[in-house]
Amino acid sequence: MDRSSILKAVINAFPQPSLLVGRSERILVANRSANRVFNRDITGLHYTAVLRQPQLVTALERAMNNGDCDDVRYRNPTIANDNIYRASFRPLESPVSVGVVVTLEDLSHEEGLGEMRRDFVANVSHELRSPLTAMTGFIETLRGPAANDAAARDTFLKMMETEAARMTRLVEDLLSLSRVESEARLKPDVTTDLIAVLNELRPVLSGLVDTKSVTLEFVLPEEPVLVTGDRDQLGQVFRNLLENAVKYGNRHVRLSVSLPEREAFVRGPAVVVDVEDDGDGIAPHHVPRLTERFYRVDTHRSRAEGGTGLGLAIVKHIIGRHRGRLRISSVPGEGSTFSVILPRL
Ligand SMILES: Nc1ncnc2c1ncn2[C@@H]1O[C@H](COP(=O)(O)OP(=O)(O)OP(=O)(O)O)[C@@H](O)[C@H]1O
Ligand SMILES: [Mg+2]
Repeated sequence: MDRSSILKAVINAFPQPSLLVGRSERILVANRSANRVFNRDITGLHYTAVLRQPQLVTALERAMNNGDCDDVRYRNPTIANDNIYRASFRPLESPVSVGVVVTLEDLSHEEGLGEMRRDFVANVSHELRSPLTAMTGFIETLRGPAANDAAARDTFLKMMETEAARMTRLVEDLLSLSRVESEARLKPDVTTDLIAVLNELRPVLSGLVDTKSVTLEFVLPEEPVLVTGDRDQLGQVFRNLLENAVKYGNRHVRLSVSLPEREAFVRGPAVVVDVEDDGDGIAPHHVPRLTERFYRVDTHRSRAEGGTGLGLAIVKHIIGRHRGRLRISSVPGEGSTFSVILPRL
């Protein structure tokens, strides 16, 4: 093997996009991933035709002429999704210098995660700020104008209780979400009767149903329906869907269960639970985003109901962990149906 074929083989063996620029200032070798990044075969091209950004050119020259090692973070606009890369420049050290090896590392994934984390912190802070502001106001009022007014004191303490409850719920939902996320890959291993889970929700929801004067109808099979699943988590799923239907619905909420022998998504026998309301419905452009954390169609209305916008995010994660699927269909002005599909034993 001559020297150039050895170099070629080495560059080709690198898992990340890599290329070698020779003394001739041309690209001597580029591996397949590098060609993919630049969207064409770059072997033989002058390096400035490929590494166009001035900071890349400078780094290459420094490596070639002074033997410097540089890492440069840059946005690569030659491909459709202009990913962010770190380009590392390393001179090949040998008695007869052959050139500079350039390797690329796609940083977009890390950057995306960072952005998600920042959004998340901003959202949580924002959600905590309004109850805290309210509390601070109430404390001031209790110290000042309402100090000797027993009736006002009572009213303010009640409002403080509501705000404290809101913060407690937010924290509980956050903990619940992080717990579900951390177990995402852990498949549940106990057998559960879904009908029993659903029946247990009736008394839990009766308070909310009464205050909203909504009728709640359950259409359930007589027989148990067995699934592999965590009883508490499944209860949490249907509790949230029913609460949403009652909160955002109008007069009537219907929960029904069907048992298809073959369902395309689970590729076998399934149980489908439909939670149907007769509310205002949801405009189509909101539907795909409902399961994002903190996403709410009408933030005012949701807040007024004590909601944090985490419910459906938790629902989606739990269903995913159970190898199931959430399907949302809605006709604006008529109502919405949230369907949970789970593999049935
Ligand atoms: N049945 C429904 N009809 C109309 N809109 C709905 C329905 N269910 C959910 N939504 C919309 O989806 C949003 C997100 O729902 P999600 O359950 O995640 O949050 P939430 O109910 O606002 O708060 P939380 O569940 O944390 O108390 C709601 O704020 C509401 O705008
Ligand atoms: Mg909800």
